[in-house]
Amino acid sequence: MLDERPRIAVLTSGGDAPGMNAAIRSVARKTIFHGGEAIGIMHGYEGLLDRRFASLAVGDVGGILDRGGTFLGTSRSARFQAPGGVDQAAEILRAEGIDGLVVVGGDGSYRGAEELHEAGIPTVGVPGTIDNDLSGTDITIGFDTALNTIADAVGKVRDTASSHERTFVIEVMGRHCGMLALHSGVACGADCILLPEVPWNIEEVCSAIETGVRRGKKHSIVILAEGAGHAFPLAEDLSGMCGQAVRTVVLGHIQRGGSPSGFDRILASRMGAAAVDALLAGETNVAVGLRCAETFTYPLSVAYKHEHQLDQRLIELARALSL
Ligand code: F6P
Repeated sequence: MLDERPRIAVLTSGGDAPGMNAAIRSVARKTIFHGGEAIGIMHGYEGLLDRRFASLAVGDVGGILDRGGTFLGTSRSARFQAPGGVDQAAEILRAEGIDGLVVVGGDGSYRGAEELHEAGIPTVGVPGTIDNDLSGTDITIGFDTALNTIADAVGKVRDTASSHERTFVIEVMGRHCGMLALHSGVACGADCILLPEVPWNIEEVCSAIETGVRRGKKHSIVILAEGAGHAFPLAEDLSGMCGQAVRTVVLGHIQRGGSPSGFDRILASRMGAAAVDALLAGETNVAVGLRCAETFTYPLSVAYKHEHQLDQRLIELARALSL
C-alpha cells in the first residue's frame, strides 16, 4: 500500500492514440476515488524533465472521454533517453512527492517506465498505441479506433476504385508490426495484404490482381503496412506489370486521430483504473493487459519485446476470402 493520501502521476508518451484521454481521466478519477491526489505530467518524459506538473481535479478531466489525442500532450524525448536523463527524472518525481507513476504509451515508453522503476519510482504501464504491437495483451488502446478509421477510408476509396475499375494501393501505419494492416485488410475485404512479418513479392501481388479481374472483380484493394514497403513505387511497378491504372492512398496520421470508439473508451477506462489499483497494491514495473476480457498485470519487460505474433488463422482466412 502507498501513503494514505498517495500522489499518483500520469503521463502519455510516444505516438498518441485515441483513448489516451479516457485513460488519463480514469487514472485521475480512480486515484481521487481512493482518496489520493492525481497529477498530470505534460508532454511525456520531456515535460517531466521540465517539471511540467499539473494537479488533476475531478473537473479537470471532465469532457475529455470522447476526445482524440492526449490533452496532456506527448513526446518522444531524446533528453530522457540521454545519459543521466532517467536519474534526473526520478529525482524530480521524488522532489514532487510522487508515490507512483502511470505511463500510457507503447514500447519505447515502457522501456522508460522500466528504467524509472530501476531508479526507485513505482511505475505501471498502460498500453496506448494504435499499432497493437505490445506482447502479452490482446489489444492496446487506440487500435480499434484506428481500425475503424481505416475501414471508413477504404470504403470511400473502394467506391471510386469500383467506378473506374482500378487497383488501389492503400498504405496503413505499422513500421514493425502488421497488425493494423492484417485486421483492416480482413475488415475491408482487401485482395492482397502486405505485412512486414510475411515475405512477399510483386509477382504474387500482380497475379492476385489479375486473377481477381478474371473472376469478375471490378476493382482491387492492396493494403500495405508501412513497414512492408513503399506505396508509390509499388503502385508504379504494379501499373506497368498489370497493364492497368493503379492509384495510391497513404492514410498517414489520420489513423492516429479522431474520437475514440466506444470499445477504446471502455478499454482505456478499465486499464487506467487497473493501473491505479496495481500501484495502490504496491505493484511496480508491470504493464496492464487485457486477456479474455479481464485486465491483469505482467512484467513491463515482457510487454515491449515485440513477441506479439500475428494470428496465423486470420492470415489464412484473409487468403481464402480474397480468392
Ligand atoms: O507507433 C505509432 C505510430 O503511429 C506508428 O504506426 C508509426 O510508424 C509511427 O507512430 C509514426 O510516428 P511519428 O508520428 O513520430 O511520425
